[in-house]
Amino acid sequence: MTVVTELDLPEFDPADPGLSGWRWHVEANALLDSGHWLAQGPLSLVVLDREAGEFFLRSRAAEFPGKLIADLFGVTDGPLRDEIDNNIINTDGDVHRRLRSLVNPALTPRAANGWRPVMREILESLWEELETDEFDFVSRFSRPYPSQTIARVMGAPAVDAQRLHDWSEWIQRQFDPIALSDPETVRAIQGKVAEFYAWVDPMIEERRGKPSEDLITTLIRTEEEGERLSDQELRNLVLNILVGGVDTTQSQLSHAIRILAGKPEQWQALRENPDEMVPRAVSEVLRFEPITAFTARQLTEEVEYRDVSFPAGTLMVVCSFTGNRDPEAFEDPREFDILVERDRTRPLTFGAGIHYCVGANLARAELEEGLRFLAEKVESFELNGLTELQAVSGIYGIDRMDVRIVPDRG
Ligand code: HEM
Repeated sequence: MTVVTELDLPEFDPADPGLSGWRWHVEANALLDSGHWLAQGPLSLVVLDREAGEFFLRSRAAEFPGKLIADLFGVTDGPLRDEIDNNIINTDGDVHRRLRSLVNPALTPRAANGWRPVMREILESLWEELETDEFDFVSRFSRPYPSQTIARVMGAPAVDAQRLHDWSEWIQRQFDPIALSDPETVRAIQGKVAEFYAWVDPMIEERRGKPSEDLITTLIRTEEEGERLSDQELRNLVLNILVGGVDTTQSQLSHAIRILAGKPEQWQALRENPDEMVPRAVSEVLRFEPITAFTARQLTEEVEYRDVSFPAGTLMVVCSFTGNRDPEAFEDPREFDILVERDRTRPLTFGAGIHYCVGANLARAELEEGLRFLAEKVESFELNGLTELQAVSGIYGIDRMDVRIVPDRG
């Protein structure tokens, strides 16, 4: 049995701020070409292949290392630390099972599909507000759309949707080592978490007195019936869903349009046969350009895998981008092609195991409705100016993307 420290591994830093756009693809593909399934990063190992990635994500001897990462970057107190300590992703065992069982019923495929008419309504209103064929797709579509949707799902006031995506963009940066290594940014995130709590606590109080048909009311009911959810758990669960469901979906939708704008023949195929092609396009963009390029686990005990021993405490970063290019699982994996039928269950973009994204069904429904709507309205997209990509290390977002559209004349 070889100990992992004895292996000769290629070096790779997932927190390199230069990893973005074409350079990200070139470097990640070069790692795949190295033939290794593991790389060595400055703070962790990086798992490159899909099967090994799934193994570590599903391992019972591993947990999400949110608290460890906070400690490493000196986030030891304040509202952000409070949020990290109570984030569902940093819980395990019975506590995690209980929290998931409370939110899962509200986010099943059926429940997510039930929100499609609302998504459509939001898209219609964003479309009507457009006064020109040239605009920044991020600020006009992909940013307002998921925050307005999640506000409706949760029962938050629609006027607060704008604040939601601001909070989401900031608070999600707790998963980005580049952001955490800058004390100014950490101070800003602390402030945003405090603002969020100050906003959400009175809203929860109000719902207690005035129940409604929304997820916050459902969670309050559970809390009141069984005392199974503490106040602190409730406000953080609301935060995890409101905040976790905005920046992610908005980034993935922006990448979908960025990529499809460069593939007019695929956009036409999608327009001609949306019932079949829209779900495929969503799966393909999740596979090809995962906005969560990395997730992580820390081993709680020694683990043996492929004749290698990994000591307890080892930090494992799992790369979905490389895992999603497994040639055994996907034909022609380095090509973006919605015309190829691929297995939708296998990409690592939503993680795996007990922390598998609780919002995956809602995210897919939002992305599908977004593409279906745009396919009806837009004959073609052209990127005609600035496209400002972020680094891949946290949520791989797009700050701005100027497009010119040819509207459908039919
Ligand atoms: C394209 C959109 C999205 C992507 C790519 C994404 C990706 C992920 C990933 C990679 C994880 C960690 C999984 C792991 O480590 O095994 C995760 C967890 C999570 N996501 Fe998402 N997500 C998306 C949308 C959403 C939405 C819409 C919501 C809320 C409705 C949401 C809420 C959460 C929550 C609460 C967790 C923690 C789950 C747990 O610990 O059990 N996400 N997501």
